[in-house]
Amino acid sequence: MPDVVRALVAAGHEVVVQAGAGAGARHADAEYGDAGANIVATVDELYAHPAVVVKVAAPTAAELTRLSDGHVVIAFLNPLGDPASIAEIAATGATAIAIELIPRITRAQSMDALSSQATVAGYRAVLYGAATLGRFFPLLMTAAGTVKPARVLVLGAGVAGLQAIATARRLGAIVSAFDVRPAVREQVESLGARFLEIDLPDGDTETAGGYAKELSEEAHRREQELVTRAVAESDVVVTTALIPGRPAPVLVTAEAVALMRAGSVIVDLAAEAGGNCELTTPGQVVDHHGVSIIGTLNLPSSMAQHASQLYAKNVESLLKLLSRDGELVLDPDDAILRESLVCSGGVVVHARVATLLSPEAAR
Ligand code: NAI
Repeated sequence: MPDVVRALVAAGHEVVVQAGAGAGARHADAEYGDAGANIVATVDELYAHPAVVVKVAAPTAAELTRLSDGHVVIAFLNPLGDPASIAEIAATGATAIAIELIPRITRAQSMDALSSQATVAGYRAVLYGAATLGRFFPLLMTAAGTVKPARVLVLGAGVAGLQAIATARRLGAIVSAFDVRPAVREQVESLGARFLEIDLPDGDTETAGGYAKELSEEAHRREQELVTRAVAESDVVVTTALIPGRPAPVLVTAEAVALMRAGSVIVDLAAEAGGNCELTTPGQVVDHHGVSIIGTLNLPSSMAQHASQLYAKNVESLLKLLSRDGELVLDPDDAILRESLVCSGGVVVHARVATLLSPEAAR
């Protein structure tokens, strides 16, 4: 974002922007020039000098061939889903920071790009659901009769799920939600949604880092039963359940979809990790006997202006942490860097990513 470029230039950094980088978010090259950036057109020019390389997605094949030990890459690198790509970056000698591994601690809140993008995705998911449903969300009493409010079910009440609940409530729907982490019940209820009751035999379902644990077979079966009953009564189902580094749990089975009324909609935000619905086709919208299953990927890109604004602020905060008097300082004792640094000096330094690459060596 041009205002972030301006702040970085004011802090003493030299900023180079790829021509057209802001086009999707409706910012012209001239705005970046006005903010003090150099605009360059080719990948060769971009990578010609040692630099911190800030991106949204992982380096492309063309970028990998230009990376060297003078580069520090900051991007969504999907280190737990695609550890091999981290090994490829490591082989170039470059340093890389995976933005999604920044810990969810208070000090790092302003750098939490997972949260900022999940906020966009949760909001957008409900709007897609509402636009696809051939019914109103709110209760309407009109001269032509009364319209019943839509019933929305949200599965997974993390950042995206809570935003989906809030958005559906603002539109007037009756909302219920479920999450395996009992701590979120209060948050769900404070947004005016009902938290579904289920007795899970697993005891602790949350990791120390606040993420969900994978359920046992028995607990997963019980959850599927609960979801099947709830899904059958819903007009729109938004699924957001994820477990870092694992395929998304299947919560909505084909059998459950068969129980839904024609015209109902499922928006599967977990499509990127395979999907929470058994019938989701990642990247596509499919129709099963009248039920639309939306597996559209990368929802934040469909709201690029605000998604970019929030991401740019996240990155600016991270760069502030890493800069001292205009110089880059990578302090290995800082927990934020320690947990998000995935490779440096030619090797994969993140223990969990290294284990995924070489489980034998870890035994
Ligand atoms: P996520 O995107 O990894 O997962 C989404 C949700 O799915 C989670 O709430 C998870 O519990 C749930 N889930 C997983 N398996 C499920 C299943 N089988 N059935 C139903 N739900 C299931 O989570 P997200 O949104 O990234 O949040 C992760 C944690 O980070 C949360 O505890 C959140 O409160 C915390 N957090 C903390 C922040 C801070 O303090 N700075 C900022 C943002 C999030």
